[in-house]
Amino acid sequence: MEDSDAVGADLHLDLAAARGRNELVEALHDSIRTGRLPAGTRLPSSRSLAKDLGIARNTVADAYGQLVAEGWLTARQGSGTVVANRVNTPATAVPALPEARNFRYDLMPGSPDVSTFPRGEWLAAARKALLAAPNEAFGLGDPRGRIELRRVLADYLARARGVRADPERILICSGYVQALSLLSEAIKSLGGTTMAVEEFGYDLHRDVIRARGLEAVAVPVDELGAETSKLTGQGVLLTPAHQMPTGVPLAPERRTAAVEWARESGAVLIEDDYDGEFRYDRQAVGALQALDPERVVYTGTASKSLAPGLRLAWMVLPQRLIEAVVAAKRTADFQTATLDQLVLAEFIASGHYDRHVRRSRLHYRRRRDRLVELLAVRAPNVEVAGISAGLHVLLDVPGDAEDMVARAARQGLGLASLSTYHFNPTPATRQAVIVGYGTPPDHAYPGALDLLCQVLGV
Ligand SMILES: Cc1ncc(COP(=O)(O)O)c(C=O)c1O
Repeated sequence: MEDSDAVGADLHLDLAAARGRNELVEALHDSIRTGRLPAGTRLPSSRSLAKDLGIARNTVADAYGQLVAEGWLTARQGSGTVVANRVNTPATAVPALPEARNFRYDLMPGSPDVSTFPRGEWLAAARKALLAAPNEAFGLGDPRGRIELRRVLADYLARARGVRADPERILICSGYVQALSLLSEAIKSLGGTTMAVEEFGYDLHRDVIRARGLEAVAVPVDELGAETSKLTGQGVLLTPAHQMPTGVPLAPERRTAAVEWARESGAVLIEDDYDGEFRYDRQAVGALQALDPERVVYTGTASKSLAPGLRLAWMVLPQRLIEAVVAAKRTADFQTATLDQLVLAEFIASGHYDRHVRRSRLHYRRRRDRLVELLAVRAPNVEVAGISAGLHVLLDVPGDAEDMVARAARQGLGLASLSTYHFNPTPATRQAVIVGYGTPPDHAYPGALDLLCQVLGV
């Protein structure tokens, strides 16, 4: 492996025919013109490329010389031969991407305070996990994920969320988004056509269901959570611990009703336990899955408890869905990145995860208290709901919520109106604003709250 010539780009060029100088010039030309070798790419030394191609070094040196003379390459003492900047490579069309969230103050729901990501502990876990990883961990393995992680998750979920978890039934995936995608695909493959969702929820999740070929239908939500007398379809998506975004927990009688309905209809309930770790009142709300693991798929994610960028989530599957979900995972990406899984397994096993969750719970609870106290003083005509859990609250506002959100955005404050979460594009919903208090780093939180109070008109 040690070869001082082994510097510069590894050229995956079509050089099979490049036995002479002209062919080599032509092949490099093509690669630069089409953007395969972008400006700034450092080419291998003439000696190294000649060795790779089995041709004379002079042939490569001549070809490089010609391309330098033509302005395609630059050659400078000490920095080797580099694709020139002045070469216009064709612009690649980039499809329109969703707008980045770049408010001065971001109180949109969805993200935790990523500035508190436990970098040091994660690094320690990564080091330990990498050193301990068997060689086979670097290859492809079980599409359900690493057994090390499935084992520690089974213990953790039973202990912390009351989930009836067996490592054999756990599948690790790339975020809840992928869990939903795989489950939709599995339900479709078993003959399903329809997935019911709570009338308030993420657009993205409805899009995922539709992209997998199922029809999404809405179930009304009231102050007791989803109206379980109106369930329909072969799959039902629920956020029982903390309805997203209205914040209510699913009432105990509705939890039972949902499971009974699923038993009778044969449908599967998908429990999205996205922020179950963050409950602030004494009354713990355990997993719905515990009522009937054969009817309820439990899904959890590291997106709120650690960071959304990790893209690590898990599901606990009923026996009858395992085969179809594993089949969907195989064709999606075969398996989630194994090293990340091993790091998370170590992170949980060594107690870092519990400590981080406990710290974060306190951190968010203080933020919530501060928000509620401040609103009571500075915006007494605003009603605050959904405060007992999670990282967001719902504010019933006097006046038009959409206008308020637009006014906030103009002043650099990111908020969301309840209506944007509704199944119908223009619903007649209550006038409410969702405030995500998890996102800003500590130093920005007081400023964000102050601006929020100004926008609320007091
Ligand atoms: C309702 C809900 N479900 C699930 C998730 C997690 O999604 P993911 O794991 O794809 O980041 C979120 C956001 O964090 C959420 O708000």
